[in-house]
Amino acid sequence: MEFAGQTAIVTGVARGFGRAIVRRLARGGARVVAGDINLPGAEETVALVKQDGGEATAVHLDVSSAQSVQAMVDLALQKYDNRVDILVNNAGIQILKPIEETTDEEWDRVIGVNMKGPFLTCRAVIPVMRKQGRGHIVNIASVGARNGGTYAGVHYVASKGGVLALTKKLGKELGQYGIVVNGVNPGPSLTDMTAEWPRSVIEGVIKNTPLGRMAEPEDIADAVAFLASDAARFISGETIEVNGGITCD
Ligand SMILES: NC(=O)c1ccc[n+]([C@@H]2O[C@H](COP(=O)([O-])OP(=O)(O)OC[C@H]3O[C@@H](n4cnc5c(N)ncnc54)[C@H](O)[C@@H]3O)[C@@H](O)[C@H]2O)c1
Repeated sequence: MEFAGQTAIVTGVARGFGRAIVRRLARGGARVVAGDINLPGAEETVALVKQDGGEATAVHLDVSSAQSVQAMVDLALQKYDNRVDILVNNAGIQILKPIEETTDEEWDRVIGVNMKGPFLTCRAVIPVMRKQGRGHIVNIASVGARNGGTYAGVHYVASKGGVLALTKKLGKELGQYGIVVNGVNPGPSLTDMTAEWPRSVIEGVIKNTPLGRMAEPEDIADAVAFLASDAARFISGETIEVNGGITCD
């Protein structure tokens, strides 16, 4: 098992990609601390991991709060051998509005979760990974950061552009400590986040995707598992496109 004996932290785990990522890492032998603002949802994910024969712990997390992030990291250290091998920044929110209708508060909220969140989690785990002399960080951005988005708010697309830049910057800054930092740009997927998308938008996505379907959470989880594993030990600062060929150019 590629993650045997390793401790992983995953954010935004109550459903969607996060749930699939937690299950995938746990199937690989990782002990996973699974954080979400929706604690009952995180607990459901952990129950699924246990059914699969894996090990995970659910924790209430507001990824935009430094205090909440630190409490999650402290729990991981205390519960699973005083180490953090893998951090997956997956929590994200979306508000579907044109720019003229977007309020200051909505801008701050989306940037706070999607962009400040990964900054806070990285800042909290890096001292632990430095001490270990190794660590894998995987940031979930979006194809929208590359192509302006299919059906997304300006704050969302801007926040994901920030995640791409953060990934590059930390890849450069942390290589000297044995820490690799990479990202995944998922293509559109039918999760709760996209539940409000009109049928015509979904049909357009499928039509414009060479592989002829939308992403499944497991497609994203497998890419995350690769980047979190030793197989990706010499890749850093990169973000891989997992979108069925939408951006092949
Ligand atoms: N679904 C897509 O089409 C798509 C495409 C590209 C990128 N993404 C990105 O992938 C990630 C997961 O997307 P998804 O579709 O599974 O979304 P989702 O809405 O189904 O799940 C997001 C999870 O994040 C949690 N969350 C929200 N705010 C939080 C906070 N403050 N602290 C901790 N947890 C919080 C939610 O409770 C939820 O469990 C997001 O970062 C999203 O932007 C999604």
